[in-house]
Amino acid sequence: MPAIEIKQGIYDVGVNDWNIRAFHGPTLSTFLGTSYNAYLILDEKITLVDTVYTPFAKELLENIQEVVDPEKIDYIIINHLEMDHLGALPEVKKVAKNAKIFASPKGKAGLPKQLPDEDWDITAVKTGDTLSIGKRTLSFIEAPMLHWPDSMFTYIKEEKLLLPNDAFGQHLASSKRFDDEVEEDTLMYQAAKYYANILSPFSPLVIKKINEIVSLNLEIDMIAPSHGIIWRKDPGKIIHAYLDWATRKPTQEKVVIVYDTLWGTTEKMAHKILEGISSSGLSAVLYKMSKCDLNEVITDIQSAKAVLVGSSTINNEYIPSLSAFLDELSALKVGGKPAAAFGSYGWAEKATKLLEEKLIKAGNKIVKEPITVQFKPTKEDLQKCYEYGREFAALVLNHEQ
Ligand code: FEO
Repeated sequence: MPAIEIKQGIYDVGVNDWNIRAFHGPTLSTFLGTSYNAYLILDEKITLVDTVYTPFAKELLENIQEVVDPEKIDYIIINHLEMDHLGALPEVKKVAKNAKIFASPKGKAGLPKQLPDEDWDITAVKTGDTLSIGKRTLSFIEAPMLHWPDSMFTYIKEEKLLLPNDAFGQHLASSKRFDDEVEEDTLMYQAAKYYANILSPFSPLVIKKINEIVSLNLEIDMIAPSHGIIWRKDPGKIIHAYLDWATRKPTQEKVVIVYDTLWGTTEKMAHKILEGISSSGLSAVLYKMSKCDLNEVITDIQSAKAVLVGSSTINNEYIPSLSAFLDELSALKVGGKPAAAFGSYGWAEKATKLLEEKLIKAGNKIVKEPITVQFKPTKEDLQKCYEYGREFAALVLNHEQ
């Protein structure tokens, strides 16, 4: 994408990665691609905030060239060491030979290990430090674990502009740059997916950092993250959404049912439980895990009021297709919800206790004993599943979150 002026004299010189479909190795689906945003500030000291992923270095330099000769860059701010933002630094530095590099103390320590083929001269900046670049002053705010220990935000008070790197981002490639130019539901869904699958484990630190920014009384009228769309219409919207997600506040009157099935019994149970929940006024959604994307299932659980997980028993375990989902659910700590397990079996029922253990590990609260069916479900069994759904919904509606 070409350089786009986001405020007078400040340009997004980043790139779209239209075709990436998995991020962080294979762990995160990115069905709408992503972008690596980098920001160029024209002032007495020409400043570049962040770079882009290594394969896009040439495109970054071309975008900078549209605005200014990259040789003239005086300062490079490295907000984060992950290669999607740092990777192009060696190519930029080959051109901007005299540019001074700034990073957090952990960034200074880690950068030479991320890019070990060169010697690096880095100035460490910590929370409260400022850097005058002419008519503007950059302020730095360390933001450990948003997304790595080295992460920091750069704030420009004269512009009321926050450059928070990974925080408030979305994996969303777009020819448009601003929140008022894209479809809101898509934007918020991608922001929620990004939070659930990247930042969720660090929710206590997210709350702390947002409170810190509030206490600093920073005026912010634009948040320009390092991935996706820039928030200018209502930056408070994404801050409030982060607080909802970080505090595990359900934002939809919905129960998510995740299951897999061997010969169809658990599937029939899932459908009847869903009918029961639905008849009680809550909505419910089914995910057969072997057919679904686990990152999207986890995103939906983040906003839901409750979660149910079902499996047949096989080899004294739950079905393996649920393993990655359950591991990720507990690793990402997307929990804090009323939960229950259900399942079917032939000769020995083992899956539901194991499912409960995983749900608890993710921070959920088991509010109802499991329901199980042996072999094929009778009409009575399915009626019991329906009633189970109704009873579970009643517990959810009475549960204080
Ligand atoms: Fe977008 Fe943690 O890198």
